[in-house]
Amino acid sequence: MDITFLLNGEVVSLTGVSPTMTLLDWLRETRHLTGTKEGCNEGDCGACSVMISDDQGHRALNGCILFLPQINGKSVTTVEGLAAPDGSLHPVQQTMIDHHGSQCGFCTPGFAVTMATDHLNGATDHDTQLAGNLCRCTGYAPIIRAAKAAEAAPVPAHLRNLKLPDGPKSSGGPAQPDGGGQPPATSRPTTTDELAHWYADHPDATLIAGATDVGLWVTKQFRDLGPVVFLNQIPDLRGITDGGDHWRIGAATTLATLTAHFAPLYPSLGAMLRRYGSAQVRNAATIGGNIANGSPIGDGPPALIAMGATLHLRHGDT
Ligand code: FES
Ligand code: FES
Repeated sequence: MDITFLLNGEVVSLTGVSPTMTLLDWLRETRHLTGTKEGCNEGDCGACSVMISDDQGHRALNGCILFLPQINGKSVTTVEGLAAPDGSLHPVQQTMIDHHGSQCGFCTPGFAVTMATDHLNGATDHDTQLAGNLCRCTGYAPIIRAAKAAEAAPVPAHLRNLKLPDGPKSSGGPAQPDGGGQPPATSRPTTTDELAHWYADHPDATLIAGATDVGLWVTKQFRDLGPVVFLNQIPDLRGITDGGDHWRIGAATTLATLTAHFAPLYPSLGAMLRRYGSAQVRNAATIGGNIANGSPIGDGPPALIAMGATLHLRHGDT
């Protein structure tokens, strides 16, 4: 698969990437950007947090369960990209120092990236936003103090004006063969129609949306996924539309989007969604993936059942 993205402001174009190479592994092993840490390697600790920016905004994601094709056309900011080009620290880096927010330092890059993302977004609900970053030694009070202290500081210019790269928006290019022979089929469709037809032809393929479950199949179970199709570049598969007496929710709608939409309307649903994973997980996980995977942590279905939700399924053209 061919992908293009921005890494700390620099255009990166890669050809023939393995579709299940994680961003964390690529950053550390290929680029030697080792500020992004591996803690749990399963989306729990936030040590691997990176900031992803695109036309939907800026969000912190866990790089350990983010596959390279998922960042095509996006901007990636790692902890190495927080300081300004002249070396001045990002406001959250400075307040972490000022408020003694770090001891061993292992968790600190992940905290700094999440805090910088919140700072860019103007988010001040730090308890919620930082719940996906774990610290074993400092304790959270100094870190929250640091986040609060940075709130009023201006966003550094190099982050305020992040651009997106021109690059391949769709690619079914060959995957990198792992051990000789034909590489498995891969696809990155941009419409639901394209997805439906490709999937009808490749019914054994693994669908990858947020990868908060599928990522662990690779990082923990070392599974070879075979054919894969990425769903995160299909605009008509995400979003919430008001049908008057019902809501229609696209399968690739993230839990973060659901929370933003429904929490003001249905506070109890909002409270439930706030406890779904962490900010980084909700920024990636989709409601369709949550239902389809039958995950034992299937937080969405009980609420959907209580609301009398109906599933709309499609196979090919029907
Ligand atoms: Fe723990 Fe990624 S290494 S969330
Ligand atoms: Fe050691 Fe947070 S400073 S884990």
